[in-house]
Amino acid sequence: MTGPRQLDLLARETAHLAPGASEESALGRRVFTEGRGAVLTDLDGNQYIDLAAGTLTQSLGHCHPEVVAALTEQAARLWNVHDFSTAGRAELCDLLARLLPEQLDTYGFFSTGAEVVEAALRAVQAVAEPGRNRIGALRHGFHGKTQGARMLVHWDIGNQAHAGNSILGYSPYCYRCPLDLEHPSCGVRCATLVRKHIAEKPNVSALVFEPVLGAAGVIVPPPGYWEQIGDACRDNGVLLVADEVLTGGGRTGTFLAGEQFGLEPDLVALSKGMASGFPFAVLAGRSDVLRHPDAARAGSTASTYANNPLGIAAARATLEVVARDTLIDNVRSLGELLGERLAELHARFDVLGDVRGLGLLHGLEFVRSRETREPAPDIARAVYLTALDLGLRTSIGGHIIRLAPPFTIDRALLDEGVTLLGRAVERVTEATR
Ligand SMILES: Cc1ncc(COP(=O)(O)O)c(C=O)c1O
Repeated sequence: MTGPRQLDLLARETAHLAPGASEESALGRRVFTEGRGAVLTDLDGNQYIDLAAGTLTQSLGHCHPEVVAALTEQAARLWNVHDFSTAGRAELCDLLARLLPEQLDTYGFFSTGAEVVEAALRAVQAVAEPGRNRIGALRHGFHGKTQGARMLVHWDIGNQAHAGNSILGYSPYCYRCPLDLEHPSCGVRCATLVRKHIAEKPNVSALVFEPVLGAAGVIVPPPGYWEQIGDACRDNGVLLVADEVLTGGGRTGTFLAGEQFGLEPDLVALSKGMASGFPFAVLAGRSDVLRHPDAARAGSTASTYANNPLGIAAARATLEVVARDTLIDNVRSLGELLGERLAELHARFDVLGDVRGLGLLHGLEFVRSRETREPAPDIARAVYLTALDLGLRTSIGGHIIRLAPPFTIDRALLDEGVTLLGRAVERVTEATR
């Protein structure tokens, strides 16, 4: 339960605060005061294992000492000189060149996920051949809440988005196959249809996609999906724009999730895993796209907070630790443990219709019955709240709970977190029996 000091504060701010918070904070009603590693503390002194890592931002956990030191040092020195070069930027460029696939050798620096998606869209529009005035995207994709990002997906959180200039392909949502087929006998027909679309629509300039769809509930594509679509884009002159805002930076066990599917994108948007929760985003691209004279016009990568020295300091420190401490290896080994423990929960509880994931990114789909697969958001909400009361923070969206622990969490704490989650599911299923 939310403690008395938190309830007091929440009641006070309600008088002025605009509604519209995320489902997880509106439901969870907690006031957090401190984060250390994978543990959060609230105003009443309760502690929580944070298996949501901030908003999937805290790859190094909360307040990693090296990131705190880098930010403190920069904060005492210089905060904003528009997009002039500062001491850390060249080093950040070198670091990204080491971590990213070779073809992605040109970078622009922004503040948020939606902002970097918009920057990618501007680059696509700048280099598109005449007549290629449409953009491909995937059903169930999410790219942010700015108008361009919303126009890609034709749906939005709680609203009807403006149907935009995009053409939508099937996402690889095997648990709820849009074609009513079963993998592998389907032959990955969803991908075949996307491929056909791409080949038949000469007006498409780019496909904007999440290699693993995050907000939709961690949809991991089956083998063959991206291989087919990637080839179709290459063969038809369609740019591949990977939105790795959520997956980039090692979250799935490789620096880019797309590396695991043989994807060679032309542009990549990165944000959450870049700077330990400081607002920061990176557009990485092939030099012939980002240095194309029409994409590189004066001001095309500038904005008030783009290239912000504090963001650059936080990103440098974060990525240096990820590289030096080989944390992406941790993601793979901890991810195995997490996958095994979640498979046990799946075997134990019928309300868990599907459990899936890659590396340290997992989604649990709650259903009313395994036969009908009817989504059960009420059960997911009850599990989410019970887990919070037991001292575990997860993230929720509709009938799906997502887990994305820090890369630095120790095995025992991760194990304890999953045990608490199991206890929460047990309590909820007993109460509804
Ligand atoms: C894949 C993806 N793209 C873009 C965004 C938008 O990022 P932001 O909320 O920083 O604007 C998100 C946010 O969750 C995301 O998951």
